[in-house]
Amino acid sequence: MTQAPAATVAPARYTKQTVLNQTVWVKDKLFSLTLTRPPGFSFIPGQFARLGLSTDHASPDVPNEWRAYSMVSAPEANELEFFSVVVPDGQFSPPLARLRVGDALWLNKNVFGFLTLEAFADGQDLWLLATGTGLSAYLSMLRDPATFKRFKHVIVVHGVRHVSELAYRDQLLSLLDRHAGKLRYLPVTTQEALTQDLSPTLSARALAPARLTTLLSSGELEQRVGLPLDPLGSRVMLCGNPAMVTDMRALLAQRGFAAGRRGVAGNLAVENYW
Ligand SMILES: Cc1cc2nc3c(=O)[nH]c(=O)nc-3n(C[C@H](O)[C@H](O)[C@H](O)COP(=O)(O)OP(=O)(O)OC[C@H]3O[C@@H](n4cnc5c(N)ncnc54)[C@H](O)[C@@H]3O)c2cc1C
Ligand SMILES: NC(=O)c1ccc[n+]([C@@H]2O[C@H](COP(=O)([O-])OP(=O)(O)OC[C@H]3O[C@@H](n4cnc5c(N)ncnc54)[C@H](OP(=O)(O)O)[C@@H]3O)[C@@H](O)[C@H]2O)c1
Repeated sequence: MTQAPAATVAPARYTKQTVLNQTVWVKDKLFSLTLTRPPGFSFIPGQFARLGLSTDHASPDVPNEWRAYSMVSAPEANELEFFSVVVPDGQFSPPLARLRVGDALWLNKNVFGFLTLEAFADGQDLWLLATGTGLSAYLSMLRDPATFKRFKHVIVVHGVRHVSELAYRDQLLSLLDRHAGKLRYLPVTTQEALTQDLSPTLSARALAPARLTTLLSSGELEQRVGLPLDPLGSRVMLCGNPAMVTDMRALLAQRGFAAGRRGVAGNLAVENYW
């Protein structure tokens, strides 16, 4: 007698994780979450996960809303960290912001994304340009010592509207100490002036509000950082607001920067957050 094949149940594409910590950077606007990390979950700095929430009270154990979130944690960290904006009328970020320690959320088992250092051939300087929560993708790279072995200088430029939105500033300042001479951190605000205590690399001239696009066009970005953007030696990443990415990409194209294609590494890599 032939036996009927055993019924197979497709393994779930996601795992249930627990919130370990929540940090509020700006009330009702910016926060970070730390979660448990499932065994076997690995990623390259710059990649993103898909987080899931159940917003249907009738099925609290079935995630029905999913969004992409870049990993902020170092690749070998025991926990996973994410940095999020709150979009007031969004389906996902307001309930995500309401999670508390001990609450559950879901994590897709796969990771995604190509905004990684693998996009580049070796270069001299790595420029990490972000607006808002676009900083997330870079924090994982900055927490990975391998990034600093590969480049002579690493420059992180964080553009936000207000000084209060310069999240992770203290951690970036500690990294400046640890990677003295190698790392440069340039905060940029658009809606109010900076103050000089925000970064040791800020000159009085670098305090005026400006968009990253304006600073790039005028040459002031390079002046504020103190290094040239040169297509042969510089490798540039753009992450965050899609309008910023489009505009910066067009300006950088005029300077000889382009994303890689068909297996040929480029000197530009970009990621839009919406
Ligand atoms: C590859 C990738 C990685 C991402 N990583 C992050 C991350 O690390 N942190 C994060 O906060 N978001 C990230 N996002 C955006 C995130 O997936 C959600 O869109 C966001 O959390 C808002 O979800 P929502 O349902 O509340 O609003 P949505 O309906 O998804 O978005 C509504 C509107 O809110 C605005 N918006 C969405 N995301 C942002 C944002 N991050 N900053 C400012 N305005 C925004 C846009 O105008 C958008 O049209 C990422 C998106 C992608 C594609
Ligand atoms: N603002 C609030 O009080 C508030 C409160 C709660 C939640 N929110 C939510 O937060 C979201 C906005 O988040 P955010 O401020 O982090 O992101 P954002 O709107 O993307 O702005 C981040 C930075 O990007 C700059 N920018 C935008 N377009 C650009 C371009 N084309 N070129 C160069 N720079 C550009 C902005 O400059 P500009 O300032 O010049 O535009 C700003 O400095 C909204 O979706 C909103 O729902 C906002």
